[in-house]
Amino acid sequence: MKREQMTRRNFLGISTTGLLMASLAPGESAGQTSPSWEKRLHIPDSSAIRILQFTDVHFFNGTGRWPQREEKQRLKTLDDMRRLIDHAKPDVLLVTGDLWHDNPDGRGAEFMVYAVEQCGGLGIPWAFTWGNHDQLDDYAMGHKALAEAKNTLYAGMESDGNYVLALEDGNGARLAEVFCLNTRATGVHDEARQFIGDAAAVLDERGNRVMRVAAFHIPVKQYEDVWDGGIARGVIGENVCMEQEDGASLPIARTAGIQAMFCGHDHVNDYSGVMDGVDMIYGRATGHNGYGADKVAKGAKLYTLDPARKALEWVSLLPDGTSWKPGAEERTDTRRRL
Ligand SMILES: [Fe+2]
Ligand SMILES: [Fe+2]
Repeated sequence: MKREQMTRRNFLGISTTGLLMASLAPGESAGQTSPSWEKRLHIPDSSAIRILQFTDVHFFNGTGRWPQREEKQRLKTLDDMRRLIDHAKPDVLLVTGDLWHDNPDGRGAEFMVYAVEQCGGLGIPWAFTWGNHDQLDDYAMGHKALAEAKNTLYAGMESDGNYVLALEDGNGARLAEVFCLNTRATGVHDEARQFIGDAAAVLDERGNRVMRVAAFHIPVKQYEDVWDGGIARGVIGENVCMEQEDGASLPIARTAGIQAMFCGHDHVNDYSGVMDGVDMIYGRATGHNGYGADKVAKGAKLYTLDPARKALEWVSLLPDGTSWKPGAEERTDTRRRL
């Protein structure tokens, strides 16, 4: 990703960019000024916010070598995504990175345009966070395309892909906030950490904190600790790939009031556990063009947020409508021992 620094003055300033969007997503709130890094969405049932997470879709992975197979898997993934939406009936989609696959021969922009069009066509407001495989020659163009897409909630155009999705009731009262972060290829890095603190400070000035969660691609180090410490429940099929994240992000997130993290990146891990008051949850990998279907069936993760209690529940959802969540003592380790 381009590493454009945002000045604090810019950060705190009110931008009109959001008001110039070509179209509003269904339910998207309009008419009030927000910082450029904030997007607001009206939720019809404020007692149960339904968030469906797709992750690691990997459109076009292998298209150079196996174009027919890639197309077949891509169309199957799209069919799955529609079925998952039919079953989940979500208020909002979170697409947490590796939506398309790399930038071979400069084709990243072509892949991205296709991917954005498909997500926009699903008929549900959708937010996007960047993954390490979402590669382009021109990231400014990518931010713009994401911000102008159909049904988009993307608000990271002026803040390197970091933004806050605010979920509100019919009266405009805030219910919950989703901190959407760009972990680039390195994990939650200094600028993303800075964004968490700065955005939280601005939001805190408005009044009482509401429920806050974070969504991003690459897990933080404590995903490893929560498994190794015997706290997490679920399935682990590969070591946690936190890249260069060193564990310093979690205390920053906790101080900002973030109580849960939703990530992707490791396709065959699906577990959650609480450490230092933060629930670390893996998404369920979605794309058949990504590795891992032999170990963990492709699907999505459905979160139900109860903002009054600041509580959330999750299930992993499969395209046939069945769901899974680990039992009280369930800890399955399928990693190969060398
Ligand atoms: Fe991936
Ligand atoms: Fe990844």
